[in-house]
Amino acid sequence: MTPLYFWTKFIKKLRGKAIINSQIHKTSRVESGSHIVNSNFGKYSYCGYDCEIINCDIGAFCSIANHVVIGGGKHPMEWVSMSPVFYEGRCSLKVKFSKHKREAIKRAKIGHDVWIGERALIKQGVAIGNGAVIGMGSVVTKDVEPYTIVAGCPARVIRKRFDDKVIDILEETKWWEFGDEELKQYSKYFANPDDFIGKVKK
Ligand SMILES: CC(C)(COP(=O)(O)OP(=O)(O)OC[C@H]1O[C@@H](n2cnc3c(N)ncnc32)[C@H](O)[C@@H]1OP(=O)(O)O)[C@@H](O)C(=O)NCCC(=O)NCCS
Repeated sequence: MTPLYFWTKFIKKLRGKAIINSQIHKTSRVESGSHIVNSNFGKYSYCGYDCEIINCDIGAFCSIANHVVIGGGKHPMEWVSMSPVFYEGRCSLKVKFSKHKREAIKRAKIGHDVWIGERALIKQGVAIGNGAVIGMGSVVTKDVEPYTIVAGCPARVIRKRFDDKVIDILEETKWWEFGDEELKQYSKYFANPDDFIGKVKK
């Protein structure tokens, strides 16, 4: 690793991150260039560089890659105009001709231990189940079932990570609620779901 590498990485991190009205668990991390609004991160979750996450509840142990967009606004398509100069709330334009109330923005919900690939786009109000995987560059417009891998534009199911029996048991264990000591104890079985299930059942 050259000094230039460290310098460039330092400059990348120096940009900072913009976080407002959000709760980021102390064990979680948001990388620089990311913008987080009205959102919550559970424990041990992270989001990479240059993400935009708005109105979203994220569970524990989630891995969110760079350039992911979750949530965001919706313009009133049924009105005469969809421009923000006709409705209440902040916008980049200075003028307000009227301040009509808009339909409330729906919150997106990301379960626990979800992996979201680079440059995925997730629509407002979408719910992603525990253990799901979102492929890189996907556009997710509908809810995703737990432990399901989806990808593409629009995102379609590729396959489930495990068979239904294993998925049910993993969901029942709620391992993401374990304390750190319990996690340390069970973590040696995490590379093998059958071993883990066997030990937890005992
Ligand atoms: C979704 C993903 C996890 C699937 O990985 P995989 O199990 O190895 O999947 P495969 O490569 O065997 O692909 C299975 C099928 O899904 C398709 N597919 C995989 N990823 C896709 C994507 N992101 N978008 C569209 N289609 C995709 C493949 O073309 C293949 O289709 P086919 O069956 O018609 O040939 C992976 O492709 C991915 O997107 N990973 C994210 C990587 C990333 O963002 N890393 C940075 C952060 S850590």
